[in-house]
Amino acid sequence: MNFFIKKKLIKLFNFNQSNKVVPIHSSFKKSLYEGSQNSKQINFLKFVKDKQFKFNDNWITYKTNIMLNIFENHNINPKEILEIGVHEGFSTIFFQYAFKDFHTDVVDIFLNDTRKKFEANINIINLKKINIFQTTSHNFLVNNKKKYDLIFVDGGHGYLDVIFDLFYSFQYLNINGLLLIDDYDWKEQNKDKSVRLATNNFLDIIEDSYEAIHQGQFAAIIKKKNIILNQKL
Ligand SMILES: C[S@@+](CC[C@H](N)C(=O)[O-])C[C@H]1O[C@@H](n2cnc3c(N)ncnc32)[C@H](O)[C@@H]1O
Repeated sequence: MNFFIKKKLIKLFNFNQSNKVVPIHSSFKKSLYEGSQNSKQINFLKFVKDKQFKFNDNWITYKTNIMLNIFENHNINPKEILEIGVHEGFSTIFFQYAFKDFHTDVVDIFLNDTRKKFEANINIINLKKINIFQTTSHNFLVNNKKKYDLIFVDGGHGYLDVIFDLFYSFQYLNINGLLLIDDYDWKEQNKDKSVRLATNNFLDIIEDSYEAIHQGQFAAIIKKKNIILNQKL
C-alpha cells in the first residue's frame, strides 16, 4: 500500500495504541453490584447443567450474579428484549431463566455453524417467543421499528460496531429500559476492541438522559429521557 495512505489509515484507526488504557466513565461513581451472592445464580447454573445445553464458549456465567442483582433492585421485568450478538445462545438462555412472559428478538451474523448450535440450544427449552435475524446489527437496526425494555449489546466489539449499536439501541429503548453493554472492561484504546472508549463517547453524547447503574465486566444504564441524536451530533 502507498506509504502515505497507510500512515493516514493508521492515524485514523489508532492501530498502534493498543496499550493505552481508557478510564472508566465519570458517571459510574462506583460498581454497586460487586459481591453479594444472588441465590438465583446457583439455580441458573444447575438449570444449565440439567438441561444439557451445548456451549463451547461461556462468556456470560460469571456476569449473571450481578445482572440478577440489577434486575431485582431495579424491578426489571421486560416484555420485549433485543439481543445483539447471541453466538450459541448462552445469554438468550440466561434471559429466559431470569424473566417470565416476554418476547425476544435476536440478531447475529451467525458465522460457520453457530446458527445450528443456537437453535439446538433454544429448542431444548422449546423457545417460541423469539425472532431470529441472521444479519448484521447495522442492517437490523436501521430497519427496526420496534421498542424494547431491555437491550443487550454484545455483537461486534470494534469501536465503530459498538458505538453504532449503542446509539441505535438507545433510540429503540423505552424510558426506564435497561441497556446492557458487554465487555466494558475491554479498556484498550485500540479501535478493534475499544468497547470502553466507544461506550464512554456514547455516554458523553447522551449526557443527562440516563442513569448509570453499573460498570465492570459489563456496563448497565437505564434510559431516563428521549434524545434526538441527529441534532446533538
Ligand atoms: C461475544 S459473542 C456473543 C456472545 C453471546 N451473547 C453469549 O452469551 O454467548 C459476539 C457475537 O456477535 C456476532 N457479531 C459480530 N459482529 C456482528 C455484527 N456486526 N452484527 C451482528 N452480529 C455480530 C458474532 O457472530 C458473535 O456470535
